[in-house]
Amino acid sequence: MKVGILTGGGDCPGLNAVIRAAVRTIANQGSQTLGLLEGWRGAIEGNAVELTPAETDDIIARGGTILGSSRTNPYKNEADVDRLKESWARLGLDALIAIGGDDTLGVASKLYHDHGLNTVGVPKTIDNDLSATDVTFGFDTSINIVMEAVDRLRTTAESHRRVMVIETMGRHAGWIALFSAVCTAADYVLVPEIDADIDEMCQLLTNRRKQGKPYGIVVVSEGAKLGEEHGYVTKDGDIDDFGHVKLGGIGDLIADIIEKRTQIETRCVTLGHLQRGGPPSAYDRVLGTRLGVHAGRLAMSQRFGRMVALRGTRIVDVDLAEAVGTMRQLEPEFLDEANEFFRA
Ligand code: F6P
Repeated sequence: MKVGILTGGGDCPGLNAVIRAAVRTIANQGSQTLGLLEGWRGAIEGNAVELTPAETDDIIARGGTILGSSRTNPYKNEADVDRLKESWARLGLDALIAIGGDDTLGVASKLYHDHGLNTVGVPKTIDNDLSATDVTFGFDTSINIVMEAVDRLRTTAESHRRVMVIETMGRHAGWIALFSAVCTAADYVLVPEIDADIDEMCQLLTNRRKQGKPYGIVVVSEGAKLGEEHGYVTKDGDIDDFGHVKLGGIGDLIADIIEKRTQIETRCVTLGHLQRGGPPSAYDRVLGTRLGVHAGRLAMSQRFGRMVALRGTRIVDVDLAEAVGTMRQLEPEFLDEANEFFRA
């Protein structure tokens, strides 16, 4: 068999672990893997390289993706789907493993169901917001990066008696923000799941100062809202190929409000793409490897239209069409436990 593999959407630590494991698993069964470059763009253009176990063995330690990624959506322009099918035939592909979030996997599912192309999915995102899997690889690395950053910001906040606002990624789910806030003993956290309570936040910061804590840490998810009527805060209103708006700027807004209301000097740090960069954690390398092995096996046993997923401690496979489209936001119990620490 000849199996293609691609990575789509925002990059994420652990992608190379998946690629390495799938290439090895497919080679173990005497088959060949072709890496399609830059997500669905490579699939449309038929831009591919051969991947071997020898060449991919040490990529497990590297961040990003050796294949490159893009947010190209073949369904934005139907002619691209025809081009993709032609490239598929020209490359002689028997199957394709698509590693991505909801958007990339949504395309893989449509190609399988509507066009009969044999696809298998692997879920990926630092945001941890995919409903069909318990955890996505990349999330662990990401919260460790935020943790280290906040630990560093704490000492400068303390020296200057300031409040430090840290804006994290996470789109419409607060996993990165909440987990980072909990593991850094932040004073307050704002997540997309709950409209920001500005009065409570300012009261809490003022109280803690009175109680003897001379500085404050507030973690804000990029998708947090000041209230339904305000909507999401965006930098420039730009929309990507899948219709997503680019978030960013809520951290500065919150820092401004805190300074004005509490009279405490406040600074904002937006961590941005630092949260996706660099080598994956041990956890993400192992999870990526396990998913890659199972995706390779699904392709080799011709079980298409499936997505690999983590359920408890086991890797299972689920229907690709059912797996996409439902976002997994923070479950109430996480918010409830954390709330012991984040109230005035
Ligand atoms: O979905 C992953 C993610 O990192 C989000 O947390 C963030 O909003 C977005 O991607 C940023 O995307 P881009 O790489 O296009 O700036």
